[in-house]
Amino acid sequence: MCKCFLLFRSKRVNLQKEMKEMMTEQDLIIALREELHRHNYNYYVLNAPEISDKEFDDKMRQLQDLEKLHPEMADPNSPTMRVGSDLSKDFKQVYHQYPMLSLGNTYSESEVTDFYNRVKELLGNEEFEICCELKFDGTSISLVYEDGQLIQAVTRGDGEKGDDVTDNVKTIRSIPLVLHGDYPQRFEIRGEILMPWVVFEELNREREAREEPLFANPRNAASGTLKLQNSSVVASRKLDAYLYYLLGEQVPCDGHYENLQKAASWGFKISEHMRKVKTLQEVFDFINYWDTERKNLPVATDGIVLKVNSLRQQRYLGYTAKSPRWAIAYKFQAERALTRLNQVTFQVGRTGVITPVANLDPVQLSGTIVKRASLHNADIIEGLDLHIGDMVYVEKGGEIIPKITGVDTDARGFMLGDKVKFISRCPECGTPLVRFEGEAAHYCPNDAACPPQIKGKIEHFISRKAMAIDGLGPETVDLFYQIGLVHDVADLYTLKALDIRGLDRMGDKSAIKIIHGIADSKQVPFERVLFALGIRFVGETAAKKLAKAFGNIEALEVATKEQLMAVDEIGEKIAQSVLTYFALPANRELISRLKEAGLQMERQEDEEGEQSDKLAGLSIVISGVFSHHSREEYKDMIEKHGGKNVGSISSKTSFILAGENMGPAKLEKAQKLGIKIINEDDFLQMLL
Ligand code: IVH
Repeated sequence: MCKCFLLFRSKRVNLQKEMKEMMTEQDLIIALREELHRHNYNYYVLNAPEISDKEFDDKMRQLQDLEKLHPEMADPNSPTMRVGSDLSKDFKQVYHQYPMLSLGNTYSESEVTDFYNRVKELLGNEEFEICCELKFDGTSISLVYEDGQLIQAVTRGDGEKGDDVTDNVKTIRSIPLVLHGDYPQRFEIRGEILMPWVVFEELNREREAREEPLFANPRNAASGTLKLQNSSVVASRKLDAYLYYLLGEQVPCDGHYENLQKAASWGFKISEHMRKVKTLQEVFDFINYWDTERKNLPVATDGIVLKVNSLRQQRYLGYTAKSPRWAIAYKFQAERALTRLNQVTFQVGRTGVITPVANLDPVQLSGTIVKRASLHNADIIEGLDLHIGDMVYVEKGGEIIPKITGVDTDARGFMLGDKVKFISRCPECGTPLVRFEGEAAHYCPNDAACPPQIKGKIEHFISRKAMAIDGLGPETVDLFYQIGLVHDVADLYTLKALDIRGLDRMGDKSAIKIIHGIADSKQVPFERVLFALGIRFVGETAAKKLAKAFGNIEALEVATKEQLMAVDEIGEKIAQSVLTYFALPANRELISRLKEAGLQMERQEDEEGEQSDKLAGLSIVISGVFSHHSREEYKDMIEKHGGKNVGSISSKTSFILAGENMGPAKLEKAQKLGIKIINEDDFLQMLL
């Protein structure tokens, strides 16, 4: 290095030192935050660090110390928030502003051709471009930014609403907390959270050493990590993220590809492997190239996504019930492995379904070791003509559990074992199995006394999407059942803290938490109670539809098949299952005990259904993110109650309906103009 440069450098260092001395600690906090955001971006998004890890850590520590001294400068998007917190918390569910749909999937090249030709035809031979992308195999995420700040990160959930995992997502270094450049005031960006292969392998090595269960693949590891309650553990798991879909009313360009390049300039990590093409041949060139080349990528991919590039053309092509007509996912053929079948065991599920499971010689498959695989049902076993000792092909499709897809009959020698036969009695309770007409599965019909069914029903009942009983998990349910404390879900409501204190080292605190959790569940709305009952085929959506159509349990109990089938989305299978459920006296008895315990067996009219002039003449601005209803629903409510929803704050604004993380610019303006800020609970109160 030349001397004059050294001289210049030392002068510059001195100058920086002097400047720092002149700065107040508050200024220094701001400068350090900016600097650390930039280094994060250089390292995790651009892969081009400018300073050493040690220098980075030192600066981070300095910022942490200063922030402790200045709690008034707290910022939810400070780089120090990426370290995570060891506070435990449950996730809040929030509605997506736009539903999170999935893509139509295909494994066949001819369906890709069909897709291309359909688009061409629908667009009336207008020119179009296709954006070819990698299909990342992780867990999808929706990020909302307002005024350049990350305000919310939500999982896909059921597509309509998901878990608010903002604190965990903030620990992912490649996701910017603060943007730079000419970003829109508010937008949403979606992408995939991934656990890189090296991190996944290391994590599984550690788990093996601690004798903890291994993650089946990086996708499960990523989604499991994102749902951890302790964000400092999330921070240690080194997740990564690629963003692939920009949404909002103010997106800058008509091209999807161009929008993502813009997003890259604001600080997002966008795949460098996206290509815009015009011809079908170019689409196949892309597919063929990545079919093998993807093995060299640091993260898992399971296919290619093809999207019509122009947003105008996308709008024109529109959506089917489930997925866009302007995009398709081509999935790569799953890798398969050959291994020996040693034994077939049978598992009994919560609804009595019997699942045959193949126990195999351990074999490596797409980066993981497979020892067990699903055989699905009796027909599949029969179709494969399966024998113990057979060499079988195992594949990992989209599902978590690998499956047997074939038998290498050439490998059969004279030592072949017995033909695999489906069992005729329940392996848990010995009851003869039944098979309903037109169904592939066998069931154990003894749902009132077959242990895994009873435990499974209770586990389903207490689960988050059902009664969400705090403090109770499968192990505790198992224990309560084993010692005869709980035989069915209604028994939960007669439990006392005294009954469970001291069981399996359960302290007073945990016992009280469970009892409170059970008591709180009495407020869970009817539609979720209905789902919690575990009526076969009655999932969340069907439960909602039935609750809305019949209003209360008594009406549902006496509904005829025709009345049930008249409800939107209720077909014959669900209707029959509801009839079968209520035909059993034991089920009706259970419901009356639950009703006596105080559970909600009637639907409450929701607030947005009513109309009034309670907000007449008021101009209301909506800002931030909400947990009880989506922004759209609040917009509707304001209008239904005579108010006006306006976009920006002015002196004429009556009040701001503010969710969490209201944008700082709006907050400042509201304070300046002295406009009242009302949170969603107070707002809902106003409408009562
Ligand atoms: S676009 C409306 N692009 O695949 C469709 N999805 O079933 C928006 N995925 O849920 C999704 N890589 O989790 C899109 N480059 C990519 C993707 C991608 C992976 C996932 C995503 C989505 C699923 C599609």
